[in-house]
Amino acid sequence: MTLPATGLPRHEVLARLGQLRSRDLAARGGRTFAYVYDPDRPDIDALGHEVYASFLDVNGLDPTVFPSLLAMENDVVAIAAAHLGGGPGTVGSFTSGGTESIILAVKAARDRAGLDRPQVVLPVTAHAAFQKACHYLGLEPVLVDVDPTTFRAVPALVEAAITDRTVLLVASAASYAHGVVDPVEQIAALGLERGLPVHVDGCIGGWLLPYFARLGVEVPRFDLSVPGVTSLSVDLHKYAYAPKGASVVLYDDAGLRRKQYYACADWTGYTMVNATVQSTKSGGPLAAAWAVLHAVGDDGYVELARKTLTATQRLVEGVALIPGLRVLGQPEMALVALASDDVDVFVVCDEMAARGWYVQAQLGYRDLPASIHLTLTASSEAVVDALLADLAACVEDVRGVTGGDPELLAAVAGLDPEALGDDVLGTLLPLAGIEPGAGLPDRMAGINALLEAMPPRLRERLLVEFLGLLFTPGGGHAQR
Ligand SMILES: Cc1ncc(COP(=O)(O)O)c(C=O)c1O
Repeated sequence: MTLPATGLPRHEVLARLGQLRSRDLAARGGRTFAYVYDPDRPDIDALGHEVYASFLDVNGLDPTVFPSLLAMENDVVAIAAAHLGGGPGTVGSFTSGGTESIILAVKAARDRAGLDRPQVVLPVTAHAAFQKACHYLGLEPVLVDVDPTTFRAVPALVEAAITDRTVLLVASAASYAHGVVDPVEQIAALGLERGLPVHVDGCIGGWLLPYFARLGVEVPRFDLSVPGVTSLSVDLHKYAYAPKGASVVLYDDAGLRRKQYYACADWTGYTMVNATVQSTKSGGPLAAAWAVLHAVGDDGYVELARKTLTATQRLVEGVALIPGLRVLGQPEMALVALASDDVDVFVVCDEMAARGWYVQAQLGYRDLPASIHLTLTASSEAVVDALLADLAACVEDVRGVTGGDPELLAAVAGLDPEALGDDVLGTLLPLAGIEPGAGLPDRMAGINALLEAMPPRLRERLLVEFLGLLFTPGGGHAQR
C-alpha cells in the first residue's frame, strides 16, 4: 500500500472504509458480549458522535489555552467523585481509558513511596493493566491467589504478600473475568494498618455498581467512602456509555495526585507539565463524555442499569436450566463467566460465533477453570432469551467435540519458555493454525486449547509473535 498519487474523492474514501468495517464485529444490536457497550439509545450515540467530532481539533495538552476542556474535566471529575463516595478533598484526572488510569495510579503510589525495587500486591483476578503498569514503570507485581469458589481476593493472602517493598494494594470492583467485588473494606483496612495506599479498580464496575445497589443488588462497599481507599479508577467508556477514550482516576487527596503529574523544564521548547500519560490529546473524548453524562442524567442511568440488571438475572437463571453449563461465582456485576465440566467451552464460543453471537473465551489459569465471558449491557435485555436458546442448543451440539489435539497439548505444556528462541517460537504459530498471509482461522477453539496448555510466559511470547504477524505492513496480515 502506498499513498494514492492523487487524492481520492470523498465517496470513494468512505466506500473503502465501509468495506473495511464490514468485517468488524457489530458494535450495536446486542449480539457482541465483549469490547462494546451498547446503551440501545441511538439518541445518545448520535449526540456522543456529534460532540466528539466537534471537539476533535481542540488540544488537551495545555489547559490554560483551551479553558473549555479545563471546565469540562473539572465537571466530569466532580461528577465521578460524587458518584463514588468522594469527599471535599477528592481530586482526579480524565484519562484515555482504564489502562491509563491504572498506570497513573501505580505511578502515583510508586513516587509517593520512593522505595528501591517497589512491589504491588495483586490478586490474580486484578486486570492485566496493573502488570502492564508494573512493566512500564519498573515495579514488581506480587500475584496472590483468590478464593477458588467465590473468585474474590482473600485478605489474609494479600496481607501475607506485603513486604517492606510494597507500595500499593489493589482490589477490583468488580473483576473483569468473574464480575465479583473483592472485599474492599478488609483490604483497605490492611492498607490503613500498614500505611499503604489502596487502589480500587472500578474501571468496569465503578459506574454501574452504585446503580445496581440502588436497584436492590447487595453490593459490598467499595468506593472512596471506605476508610483506607486512596484511589479509584472508573471508565466512562464502559457503563457510562461515553464514546471510547474516557476514564477517570480519582484520589482521596491532592498530595497523592501530585505524584501522578509530570513536568519537564530541562529542554528548549514550551513549558511542559502533563497530568496524564498523553501530551497532545484530542478534546473529543472528554467533550463527548461530558455531553453523554449530562444527556443521560441520573434517571437515564437508572433505566439503563435496570435493563442491564434484568438481562443479567435472566441469563443467570436461564443458564441454571442448561445441563452442563454453570455460572462461576455469584457476580454482583453484569459480567458473567460460564464454565462446564461436560463440554469444551472454547468450542461453544466457536459455535456461538457461527450463530452470530460474540462471546469471549477465557483461558483457565492456575486452578481456575476456563470459561465463556459475557459483558451484558442495556442492549442485552432484548436478546437474552434468544442468546439462552442458542447457548442451550450449542452445548448439546458440541458434546464430545474438543478443539485441541491431546498430543500437541501435552507437548507444548512441557516447553520451557525461557529456553526457546524467537525463531523456534515462530514455528509454533503454524501448529496453532496461523500461517503468515493465510488469514485467521474461523474456529479458535484449537488455538485457545493450545494457549491454555502453555505456561503463561509461553502464552505471552506466542501472543507477541502473533501480533507481529498481524501488524505486517502491506500484506501478510491475518484477516478473517
Ligand atoms: C476491571 C478492569 N480494569 C481495567 C480495564 C482496562 O480498561 P481499558 O481497556 O479501557 O484500558 C478493564 C477493561 O475491561 C477492566 O475490566
